[in-house]
Amino acid sequence: MLEKDIEKVLVSEQEIDEIAKRLGKQLTEEYKDKFPIVVGLLKGCVPFMGKLINNMDMHLEIEFMDVSSYHGGIESSGDIKISKDLDVAVQDRHIIIAEDIVDTGRTIKVIMDLLKYRGAKSVSVVTLLDKPEGRVVNLDPEYIGKTIPKEFVVGYGLDYDEKYRNLPYVGVLKKEVYMK
Ligand code: PRP
Repeated sequence: MLEKDIEKVLVSEQEIDEIAKRLGKQLTEEYKDKFPIVVGLLKGCVPFMGKLINNMDMHLEIEFMDVSSYHGGIESSGDIKISKDLDVAVQDRHIIIAEDIVDTGRTIKVIMDLLKYRGAKSVSVVTLLDKPEGRVVNLDPEYIGKTIPKEFVVGYGLDYDEKYRNLPYVGVLKKEVYMK
């Protein structure tokens, strides 16, 4: 049913599996003695973060923040709203922020600065997708699943108007879906 709205698959289910394995292994090597907090930014982080932490063979905590910038449209508004904050202190802790996509970079920049201000020992970013052509702030995620072109993508956590997050792959939405 959802597939008919997808123009093309950009990151397949199998490729997402491979990405989660590769990044999970790398994070395990780099953080295994650091007991990090993996902070997921809701809601888009959910599917990828789930798969990623399954591939991290080490002790870690998971926490969530709800941060929004798109407000239902297809362009980032730059207006960041924190509607759910962390429930734990980050002072002297190593933080890995988990994202589905970094586009303008505004969301991540605000959250990174906030967590550093609160005394985190380190803050890094792991993202399934990176869209560097969209960047308006100076920010390079440390751990990137796949770099993609400036197209409007949905699936694997990414939505259009709150829909398509449950697609098991990342695809480009047909223009007629959001033009109508
Ligand atoms: C999306 C995405 C990132 C952010 C990326 O979240 O999950 O958090 O936008 O955009 P940026 O790099 O331009 O800031 P959104 O605000 O749509 O919330 P959601 O995860 O609930 O869909």
